[in-house]
Amino acid sequence: MSKEFHSALVSPTGVWWKPVHSQEKRWITISFIWCMVLFAMMPLWHFKGGQNPTGVRARVDPADFAERTERFNKEFQVGTEKGMPVVAPPPGADVYLLARMWSWSSVLKLKKDTEYMLHLSSADVNHGFSLFPINVNIQIVPGYDYGLKITPNEAGEFRIICNEFCGVGHHIMVGKVIVEE
Ligand code: CUA
Repeated sequence: MSKEFHSALVSPTGVWWKPVHSQEKRWITISFIWCMVLFAMMPLWHFKGGQNPTGVRARVDPADFAERTERFNKEFQVGTEKGMPVVAPPPGADVYLLARMWSWSSVLKLKKDTEYMLHLSSADVNHGFSLFPINVNIQIVPGYDYGLKITPNEAGEFRIICNEFCGVGHHIMVGKVIVEE
């Protein structure tokens, strides 16, 4: 009586190296085409859908960025809200917003239909910039200055919510942007 045994040297008898079934081939083809469609959507959405922002990224020392933000706040401060400076930069200005555990450097007061260069960075860990109730989401990384050309197209008060978990105070990290007519 012969006994079949398997080892790493003797491959077991199996069925998986049979030629691919025609139906399976069809599904592989469909999946591949769909992958290509989704792949094409990425650049398409960037140009057509206006979904991904085109920004300027540069390395920055967190201390330098904090200093720039402080200078910016001092120069254009128009008031205070709950201990936070309210800053109203002139049209076309470089706007600095620093995220740190667990607050935003200022309340921004911007004008509708006016272009600004918004600079975002973090002083410590990763934070998320989420403009509520508008669907704008950008990741803020320490050591990088993320510059975005923005033109607010809607007047009102907006919340900046941190959408990247950044520690025990993450849930209280809420800021504000005021857009005036
Ligand atoms: Cu900052 Cu979560």
